[in-house]
Amino acid sequence: MKKGHFISFEGPDGSGKTTISSLVSQALKKRGFDVVYTREPGGIRISEMIRDLILDPKNVEMDAKTEALLYAAGRRQHLVEKIIPNIDAGRIVLSDRFVDSSLAYQGVGREIGIKEVFDINMFAIEGYMPELTIYLDIDPQVGLDRIGSRDFKDRLDQEDISFHERVSQGYELVKEKYQERLKIFDGNRSIEDLTSEITEYIIEWITAHEA
Ligand code: ADP
Ligand code: TYD
Repeated sequence: MKKGHFISFEGPDGSGKTTISSLVSQALKKRGFDVVYTREPGGIRISEMIRDLILDPKNVEMDAKTEALLYAAGRRQHLVEKIIPNIDAGRIVLSDRFVDSSLAYQGVGREIGIKEVFDINMFAIEGYMPELTIYLDIDPQVGLDRIGSRDFKDRLDQEDISFHERVSQGYELVKEKYQERLKIFDGNRSIEDLTSEITEYIIEWITAHEA
C-alpha cells in the first residue's frame, strides 16, 4: 500500500488558500493521486457545528480562550475521525488550515501567547503535525481587500486591521519556528501560476518521501 501524507495550507484571510488548495487537490487527483480534501475549522459534522459556533457574528461575547479551546476541540475530532484514518489508508490528506492557524490567530492575534495555544493544541492532537505546509504569503491588507466584497463576513473577518496585522506577525513566528516544514509561495502571483507550481512541488515532495 502507498504511504499516506498530511499536507496543510496556511496564510492570512484572503491569501487564496481555499481557491488554490481546491484547485491543487483537483490537479493531483487528475494526475492519479488518491487525495482527500478537507478544511478547518470544520471538515466533518461535529467540527462544522463547532465552526458555526465560533464564526457566528452574533457571538460577540466569546472569550478568547473559549475560542482557542473550541478550535482545538474541532481539530481533535477532525483529526481522529478523518485525517488519521485517511492517512492510515494511504491517502494524501490536504487540509485548508490546521494548527498553525491557531498559533497565529489565537496565540498572537488574540494575544493568548503562542506557547499557551501550542500546549492546548498538543493535548488535542498529541503531536500529530502536518509533514508539509504550503504557505501563501500576502500582505494582510491585500487579503482583506480581496475578501471585502464577500456578502457574508464571519466573526473573525470582521475584526479590525490591527488584529489581522498581529495574525500576520504570528505567522512570521510560525515561519521561523517551522522552517523545515513550511514552503512559502508568493500569494500575489496569479491563481494559475500558483496552482501549477504548488501541484508540481507537492508531486516532487511526495516522490521524495515515497520510501
Ligand atoms: P482564503 O481561503 O485564503 O481566505 P480565498 O481562496 O477565499 O482565500 O480567496 C479570496 C479571494 O481572492 C477570492 O475572491 C479569490 O478568487 C481571490 N484570489 C485568490 N487567490 C488569488 C490570487 N492569487 N490572485 C488574485 N485573486 C486571488
Ligand atoms: P476559513 O474558513 O479558512 O476563512 P477564510 O477563508 O476567510 O480564510 O477560517 C475561518 C476563520 O477562522 C479565519 O478567519 C481564520 C480563523 N481560524 C482561527 O482563528 N484559528 C484556527 O485555528 C483556524 C483553523 C481558523
